[in-house]
Amino acid sequence: MMETDRIILRLWHEDDAEVLFNYASEPEVGSRAGWPPHKSVEESREIIRTVFHNETTWAIVLRSTGEPIGAIGYGPSCDCRLPARDGEPIVGYWIGKPYWNQGICTEALQLMLSHICKTTSIASLISGHFVDNPASGRVMEKCGFVPTGETCIDETQYQGADRPIRVLRLEL
Ligand SMILES: CC(C)(COP(=O)(O)OP(=O)(O)OC[C@H]1O[C@@H](n2cnc3c(N)ncnc32)[C@H](O)[C@@H]1OP(=O)(O)O)[C@@H](O)C(=O)NCCC(=O)NCCS
Repeated sequence: MMETDRIILRLWHEDDAEVLFNYASEPEVGSRAGWPPHKSVEESREIIRTVFHNETTWAIVLRSTGEPIGAIGYGPSCDCRLPARDGEPIVGYWIGKPYWNQGICTEALQLMLSHICKTTSIASLISGHFVDNPASGRVMEKCGFVPTGETCIDETQYQGADRPIRVLRLEL
């Protein structure tokens, strides 16, 4: 578990499914990150059991309410479309829409990066954001990520169109 005065990063529990559905069913959240909105609480529970079931994906919990309001994590980049170095992990995150633009994701990313530096020998991290989602790029830049100058295309074609992705890297 990692914490600041405002947030806690902890692993996901199956009984977070309802609150996860509440935030992840909002179409504007997933579409900016490249995944479809959750359609049911059961789907959210399944995501917790599978996608979130690992040691490097955390719920971003607001201390004042005790409620998860987003997710952050890192993991193998082998199955993603970013031009990663060998073994270089990819970083991802999202925050529930009512909490955007309050500095929460930046705080969560800084917390996770500090944990990575303390507990691993990871040398660099890669991430990317859709060019039409500059807020995510700001979060990365505020945490020290630097644009690599590369752009790649989302081959999943979720939402039916080519969407360029701006690539950034953090050297640790
Ligand atoms: C991207 C996201 C995670 C940011 O979370 P957040 O908690 O709002 O981020 P922060 O408040 O820490 O920082 C947001 C920054 O983006 C800036 N920003 C917001 N909208 C912007 C826009 N349209 N253009 C440029 N910058 C913008 C904010 O001003 C802030 O920068 P500042 O501190 O320099 O003023 C959140 O909006 C989100 O979950 N979006 C949907 C999912 C997503 O995009 N995930 C990332 C996929 S790569």
